[in-house]
Amino acid sequence: MKALITAGGKGTRLRPLTHTQNKHLLPIANKPILHYSLEKVADAGIREVGIITHKNGDEVKAALGNGEQWGLAITYIPQNAPLGLAHAVKISQNFIGDEPFIFYLGDNMVVGGLEKFIEVFEREGSNCHLTLARVKDPERFGVPELKGNRIVAIEEKPLHPKSRFAVSGIYLYDKTIFEAVNNIKPSARGELEISDAHQYLIDKGYKITYSEITGWWKDTGKPEDILEANRLILEHTESNISGLVNNDSIVTGNVVLEEGARISHSTVRGPVVIGKNAVIENCFIGPFTSIGHDCIIRNSEVEFSIVLHECEILDVGVRIEGSLLGVGARVVNAEGRPRTHRFMVGDQSLIEIR
Ligand code: G1P
Repeated sequence: MKALITAGGKGTRLRPLTHTQNKHLLPIANKPILHYSLEKVADAGIREVGIITHKNGDEVKAALGNGEQWGLAITYIPQNAPLGLAHAVKISQNFIGDEPFIFYLGDNMVVGGLEKFIEVFEREGSNCHLTLARVKDPERFGVPELKGNRIVAIEEKPLHPKSRFAVSGIYLYDKTIFEAVNNIKPSARGELEISDAHQYLIDKGYKITYSEITGWWKDTGKPEDILEANRLILEHTESNISGLVNNDSIVTGNVVLEEGARISHSTVRGPVVIGKNAVIENCFIGPFTSIGHDCIIRNSEVEFSIVLHECEILDVGVRIEGSLLGVGARVVNAEGRPRTHRFMVGDQSLIEIR
């Protein structure tokens, strides 16, 4: 079995962070989102992985290399234009050949391993095995219509969803998927939709089975999804203190403090991860916070947030919460008079003030 992982897309809902960084490389608990899918694929015993990138996939290539870090052999497959997920499958036919494969949307985060899905796919002799997750907003996803325990239809982002399930971004296929992606036509938005490929398989009578994801699953398209994925991953993180905590600091709950990082005169309430050489001084760092390497946070409070590397948060009078700070961002006290807020923000940034 091979694996195909997507790492393209524009990440428009995550601007401005995605102006300078591929969304698949944004960190969750200080680790790029893409690493999670690679780890799962490697754990399932798969070795050959194709990664679909933008036309220019240099950033992803630089971040992942040839895959040996995970015991994987990575082949990069550039998608010259964003023509849809089924198109991504279509251009990978040479790489996949006749083997069954797992198609994994690189921005999806899921708890647990892939083995159980592979097991059902193989045992049932399915042509396609989908993973379904119960969601509050199915209209954002591919939605199955179920009769008994059969999928009888699938619609992409329907106005009136026929179930409360989303088809999650982890799919297992045999080679019949290539017949589907080579026969469907572009949708109204000009893309070859993966849901249309699934509908094609249903219409032709191929065998589609599914598993329900009962732990959690997140498609990390929006800022709140990224924060929620960060919360869920941190919830499963164990303590590991390699940095320094001075005596008058209180560190409770699960906290990862990487090498060279320092906490002084502060309260850190886990789960929290703090990257290499970060400095936390006279602060409160609350639960579900990830702080990247080389950040400096002084006389401030941060909670339920992701702070990318090399940020500075200095003397900020209100608690920063539910926030995403891009690389090297600075949030500092506006000294002197008049007493104002002062901004120097990038394109499509969001600032919320009370
Ligand atoms: C894509 C698929 C959709 C699926 C979702 C899962 O949507 O088209 O069927 O439910 O991924 O993450 P997109 O994220 O491209 O809107």
